[in-house]
Amino acid sequence: MAKGSALNSLMKHRKRLDDVTMREQFAIDPNRFQRYSATGAGILLDYSKNRIDGDVMSALFDLARAAGVEERRDQMCEGEHINITEDRAVMHMALRYQGDKPVPVDGKDVMPDVRAVLKAIENYTNAIRSGEIRGHGGAQFTDIVNIGIGGSDLGPAMVTLALEPYTRADLRAHYVSNVDGAHIHDVLKRLDPKKTLFIVASKTFTTDETMTNANSARDWIADTLGEEAVPNHFAAVSTNIPACAKFGIREDRIFGFWDWVGGRYSVWSAIGLPIALAVGYDNFAKFLQGADAMDRHFLSAPLEDNLPVIMAVLGVWYRNAWGFSTHAVLPYDQRLSRFAAYLQQQDMESNGKSVTLSGKSVGWSTGPIVWGEPGTNGQHAFYQLIHQGTDVIPCDFLIAAKPHESLPPHHDKLVANVLAQSEALMLGKTKVEVVEELKAQGLSKARIKELTPHKMFPGNRPSNTLFYEKLTPETLGSLVALYEHKVFTQGVIWNINSYDQWGVELGKQLAKALLPKVEGKQSGEGHDSSTQGLLAYYLANK
Ligand code: F6P
Repeated sequence: MAKGSALNSLMKHRKRLDDVTMREQFAIDPNRFQRYSATGAGILLDYSKNRIDGDVMSALFDLARAAGVEERRDQMCEGEHINITEDRAVMHMALRYQGDKPVPVDGKDVMPDVRAVLKAIENYTNAIRSGEIRGHGGAQFTDIVNIGIGGSDLGPAMVTLALEPYTRADLRAHYVSNVDGAHIHDVLKRLDPKKTLFIVASKTFTTDETMTNANSARDWIADTLGEEAVPNHFAAVSTNIPACAKFGIREDRIFGFWDWVGGRYSVWSAIGLPIALAVGYDNFAKFLQGADAMDRHFLSAPLEDNLPVIMAVLGVWYRNAWGFSTHAVLPYDQRLSRFAAYLQQQDMESNGKSVTLSGKSVGWSTGPIVWGEPGTNGQHAFYQLIHQGTDVIPCDFLIAAKPHESLPPHHDKLVANVLAQSEALMLGKTKVEVVEELKAQGLSKARIKELTPHKMFPGNRPSNTLFYEKLTPETLGSLVALYEHKVFTQGVIWNINSYDQWGVELGKQLAKALLPKVEGKQSGEGHDSSTQGLLAYYLANK
């Protein structure tokens, strides 16, 4: 984004629309939905309930073109090291590529390796699910515990929940991520070690939380079944194969991936192993196919019809021209209850940056705070603020046309609610409407005057609605890839590196330095008074 001209142009459009409401725009234009909706990879995006008109959208697409979104997209596909600070290619699309062309990274076609790992996952998954591979004492596995954090946890955990209808009751997946011992303790207390398989998932295989949990799991198996049982109860997923072997994982149970896959983009890699175990390899393959369908849409559709690009430029519009700082993701799908948490890492770890590619301070706002919970639960919690609070929060609503279960009238009610929310946010409720309503209830003039301001809704609050036929593995793959490409596009427009995450390092470094002091092995001197005070409290009370 070139600070002066691009921002100025957006601000001019914003001023022009300051006094125009969507309510008026819908009244004037009966084709607004047709004009501002698009489809790709089986997903319908209705973006008509946004503060936009044709000129705004043209300016936003011009901005994306001028920022080089198309060129950057090509560079990413060609394996250029667009992750400049880590000097790496960004090739997660290769993990789900369904075509037969070579995909070169650093001069080597990566597809044979990608397919070999997928084959190994398929074989291992089938062998666990059929009972061919069993625990040390010969019992069939009933519980899989994935130990990982960040990208090595959030993706598989979110997908396993989302694809619950495809899981088997006799093979359950659990996820342990937090270094808080409560997490592993509470998961293991219900499990039988003889029937439990652990997957240690870590790109680096050095992440402290994961290694601490992995060691506790290892002790649990060794203490209950004997040291010799360990190799039969562990598998690993990592780019660091020697470290996996050192931990004691059998060579044929180590599933690799590569440094051109970022942690938060790794759900398509062997990091998806617990998904394949939980829902079967064929369904995992369909998840990859759905993502590939969205990739093809992203790579080929003109920017004006391109779902990820449309969502990206709308996000830029709100962030940079209107100053809206948060973005809510509100799936009307209970099984997408971890979707917002997953997107928090995908979006905020990618675009939570404040220097440009050349290391200068950005002169504009970058990634928003992403948050959300499934509807209708959110309606009874935080929607009050979305409707009547002082902040405007652009929302994405997600909803399937068909539920997995036949439980009328649940789904019709769910759909009525999601449609009502976006309509209510857009329309609001005017003073005249409130007064009419209160008069009809027979309230006194004085009471009407008192209540009216409380019952008015400002409206003109923006939202997208993503509609899809059913939450299948394919649809979920397409949805996740849609958001990945949205984040990519925004990163290009903001001229930042969406693929590094230096911001998590400082806390890690300080925690390492503090550990011996927390353990009481070193004095806490030299820290600020707050840290020293908290340390003293801990040591006195532990
Ligand atoms: O939070 C930082 C981070 O590096 C994430 O990007 C990554 O997903 C997570 O830690 C876990 O890393 P690893 O898979 O190497 O254990």
